Amino acid sequence: MGMRVLVTGGAGYIGSHTAALLAGRGDFVVVLDSLEHGYRQAIGDLPLVVGSTHDGSLVKQVIGEHKLEAVIHFAAYKAAGESMTDPGKYFENNVHGSLRLIVAACQAGVRKFVFSSTAAVYGTPKTLPVKEGDDLRPENPYGESKLMVEQMLKWFDVCHGLRSVALRYFNAAGAALDGDNGEDPRHVANLIPLVMKVATGRAPALRVFGTDYPTKDGTGIRDYIHVLDLALAHARALDFLAAGQPSDVFNVGTGQGASVFEVLAAARRISGEKIPTEIFDRRPGDPAAVFADNRKAREVLGWSPRYGLEEIIATGWRWHHQHPDGFAGI
Ligand SMILES: NC(=O)c1ccc[n+]([C@@H]2O[C@H](COP(=O)([O-])OP(=O)(O)OC[C@H]3O[C@@H](n4cnc5c(N)ncnc54)[C@H](O)[C@@H]3O)[C@@H](O)[C@H]2O)c1
Repeated sequence: MGMRVLVTGGAGYIGSHTAALLAGRGDFVVVLDSLEHGYRQAIGDLPLVVGSTHDGSLVKQVIGEHKLEAVIHFAAYKAAGESMTDPGKYFENNVHGSLRLIVAACQAGVRKFVFSSTAAVYGTPKTLPVKEGDDLRPENPYGESKLMVEQMLKWFDVCHGLRSVALRYFNAAGAALDGDNGEDPRHVANLIPLVMKVATGRAPALRVFGTDYPTKDGTGIRDYIHVLDLALAHARALDFLAAGQPSDVFNVGTGQGASVFEVLAAARRISGEKIPTEIFDRRPGDPAAVFADNRKAREVLGWSPRYGLEEIIATGWRWHHQHPDGFAGI
């Protein structure tokens, strides 16, 4: 018997891949999305409720009507840079919106909850790879908003028995293997979709910030995790909660770092495009390197990443090449 799951933000990038994977393995999925940054086309014919996590009575009605037993909560804003200029927007949507959702889900009888957290809760890591037990020192309101929700979830478990898994994603990237679903190029601030925008002629040059870091080629190193591997981690997290396991937190990354120049080289080779660059000084607050210790997710959730940088770039290119304006252009 499959599970019955509410997926908030399920019409967005990671949520739509997760909803498809869950539906494909036999779970019953209902998507709740405001469609502010998501697309109906991203979820095919899965049931979609257009609405907000702030709307507690809608959440309760949807959970009750469809007898949903678990929530996977993606709905949030995700631009760390923007959160520094408009922190209120991030606390309102990511914290207040999550609180309304959690309260409503609890009232509707849900006791299993999977939450999209982020490596940004660590800030600049003191040691690498980053482990779940390392210091949590977010350096922007976005990261703080996610940590606040992790902390709220701890208390909803203590007080209401809502068991949760927080998945701290590293850098989500890549697209569906057939290139039919991928990241919206309109709202991206991350390296790989920015590289793709240059490759598809939607931006003139890739801005590289810092070529004098103490790394192998001087550019920043990040842990890029394929969106399909992230989707799989959510399925494993649901199974973990369904098996009665206690609330926990897991890093979801490959454990391997790739530099900006390595990403560029792979993208040039795979796309055949030149992808010009402009070099700038380092940006304040950008760590030289961040990558995950993923042993806990491997050992406890039985999850392991199936794709590396090659597949990330190849699938991402397939999507962006075929859909240079994303779903907005279809
Ligand atoms: N993309 C990454 O690299 C990354 C890394 C770490 C964590 N995350 C987290 O993963 C989650 C999903 O990220 P994504 O890349 O798929 O982003 P996305 O913007 O593509 O998806 C978010 C979806 O949530 C919807 N939404 C936003 N606020 C809402 C609300 N209040 N009510 C209902 N719907 C709402 C949007 O319309 C959108 O469809 C986010 O919580 C993000 O913070 C993403």
